[in-house]
Amino acid sequence: MAERIPIASDHAGYELKQHLSRALRELGYEVEDLGTNSPASTDYPDYAHPLAEKVESGEVKRGVLLCGTGLGMSYAANRHPGVRAAVAWAPEIAALARQHNDANVLVLPARFVSEEDGVQILKTWLETPFEGGRHQKRVDKIEASGHEHSGDK
Ligand code: RB5
Repeated sequence: MAERIPIASDHAGYELKQHLSRALRELGYEVEDLGTNSPASTDYPDYAHPLAEKVESGEVKRGVLLCGTGLGMSYAANRHPGVRAAVAWAPEIAALARQHNDANVLVLPARFVSEEDGVQILKTWLETPFEGGRHQKRVDKIEASGHEHSGDK
């Protein structure tokens, strides 16, 4: 069965979202489009939270968000426990976000990447595995509260 991948954007990411949704379908994924559905102005948290909730709950393994800079979407998504949303503006960043950080949400800065680059970033993120090993304990520490990290009293 095809993996279902939710994707969402605000108005700034709308055009690239449409393009990447087509690319995901061509790659054989089932796309769950959570909006926005037009270039009309919207608020990015209204899209980041529903997508992040799906990842947080385990309903889906991973998802894709887009806004102008990628920043607003990442701030909102990263407030959800277990969500690791990475802004990637180049395939190399997407690869490292998977290898080192086990990023389960890809965030694209739509105003700063071309359609072609967007597809390459997306494909790299989809296909790159987490390296585990020394990176696992660091990823585990992300969920620890401020008082639990080593050296803090
Ligand atoms: C919308 O103008 C813009 O602020 C938004 O897409 C995003 O870049 C916010 O972080």
